Amino acid sequence: MTVIALVGNKGGAGKTTIAVNLASALARNGSTAVFDSDPQGSVLQWQAIAGPDRAPIVVDTADGLEDVFARSAHRYGHVIIDCPPSVHATQTHVALAVSEVALVPVQPSPLDLWATVHIEHAIEAARRVNPGLRALLVINQLESRTTLSRLMRDALAELELPAARTAIRRRAVYRASVLEGKSVLDMGRRGAAAAAEIRSLLSEVTTP
Ligand SMILES: Nc1ncnc2c1ncn2[C@@H]1O[C@H](COP(=O)(O)OP(=O)(O)O)[C@@H](O)[C@H]1O
Ligand SMILES: [Mg+2]
Repeated sequence: MTVIALVGNKGGAGKTTIAVNLASALARNGSTAVFDSDPQGSVLQWQAIAGPDRAPIVVDTADGLEDVFARSAHRYGHVIIDCPPSVHATQTHVALAVSEVALVPVQPSPLDLWATVHIEHAIEAARRVNPGLRALLVINQLESRTTLSRLMRDALAELELPAARTAIRRRAVYRASVLEGKSVLDMGRRGAAAAAEIRSLLSEVTTP
């Protein structure tokens, strides 16, 4: 079983977007559930539009991730946990304790990068109970056709968390697909470039 958590201390970073799209990619390779641990219930809303037949399965864990995980995670080949935007939330701590990989989406702005310090500490603390936990920053909403500035690369190098080689670009299809209850992998040619970066991120995450 693969267990991947999307964590962070900020809303709007891209946790839910990346959770739904990675889960949709994983679902082509085995049964996959997204455990929606954010009380906002965004993944549940996505599923309400998607309908019951579209993978992945979505499980509501906003009230008790620990119990639901212990009872039901073994049913799935892959589990993605979408967390609330707070390192202080119980769900974030539980997710870091049970996951193999923690992904921290972050927008390519210095303020957002500096804010990841809090999650770095939470990840270090989680490694006391989950020593194998891997953690990666994922640059999200990188402006299309531009690359990371020198300053951003320097700022990234200062952080303890390594960044994934794959960055996710800002693309309208990430928003449009959600409105249709789809992932970027279901959007045909419109979603091809986004689907390629999601697959690339997934292979980085699942290859130790
Ligand atoms: N790579 C992207 N390109 C375009 N829009 C994006 C991208 N990632 C996220 N968004 C949009 O940004 C907003 C916040 O993303 P979301 O996944 O809800 O963040 P979080 O779950 O961390 O709060 C949403 O409106 C989402 O559609
Ligand atoms: Mg979210």
